[in-house]
Amino acid sequence: MGQEIMERIREANEAVITGIDDADIAHWVSIYIMGKAYRVPADITLMQAIEYAGYRFVRGAGCRAGFCGACATVYRVAGDWRLKAALACQTRVEDGMYLVQIPFAPAEKPSYRIEEEAPAGTTLLKHFPEIARCVACNTCTKACPQELEVMDYIQAALRGDLKGVAELSFDCIQCGLCSIRCPAEIVHYHVAQFARRLYGRSLPVPGHVVERVEEIESGVYAEEFERLMSLSREEIEELYKKEQREKGGLKSDDASRVTRNGQGEG
Ligand code: SF4
Ligand code: SF4
Ligand code: FES
Repeated sequence: MGQEIMERIREANEAVITGIDDADIAHWVSIYIMGKAYRVPADITLMQAIEYAGYRFVRGAGCRAGFCGACATVYRVAGDWRLKAALACQTRVEDGMYLVQIPFAPAEKPSYRIEEEAPAGTTLLKHFPEIARCVACNTCTKACPQELEVMDYIQAALRGDLKGVAELSFDCIQCGLCSIRCPAEIVHYHVAQFARRLYGRSLPVPGHVVERVEEIESGVYAEEFERLMSLSREEIEELYKKEQREKGGLKSDDASRVTRNGQGEG
């Protein structure tokens, strides 16, 4: 069974990457993109499926690797009442999916100068009084594609626990899926980012960071910076591939992908 799935994934990826003939693709699923039905190869990601169907991402795609949060998607699967959320670049298509992209979550963001804000729990409530409206429904946690305990970090914010918010939200990629579902209209990721900034400002600067800043300021790396800035794009790509190979992080196949689109593929 495992082998069959791996074969389907290999075939699906080949279909998307090399554009092999449809007649050679054995496994297909039907999905709906903004209400219109499409047949796409099974086992590709939502992002690949949307592109396979002929759409081009102008917004809503960034890193293609699960880090930038640009590809937020909500969907339902036929026969299932639940509205689900996912990252399009990290989730595989399923038969009967109804998809819609949410490339941007409109959200209010308070304006502040972080150096003028007290690194205290009460500062969170000053800028985000709406966190007191949390009804502890846990909808935000269920929506999070990073599987963060989102409700818990909002509750930590309410208690003024900056460290708790910072640690629980550390892997937030600001996709906005939590905030579009929240009945209390909280913008979780702005609360979390503010808390991390406040918390980070209250920590002592580690010795190695102080040391590195001193080295930069004294010009230790000036010559190397100058050399890098003078390289062409091709030379920088070559250098990147060489260093990744030396670290063991890039195989020869990966290296060709870097060359093809200039930045590597997710
Ligand atoms: S969705 Fe909103 S109201 Fe519900 S637990 Fe999360 S923050 Fe609280
Ligand atoms: S906490 Fe919210 S904004 Fe952050 S990754 Fe989870 S759903 Fe996205
Ligand atoms: S495109 Fe960056 S997380 Fe999906």
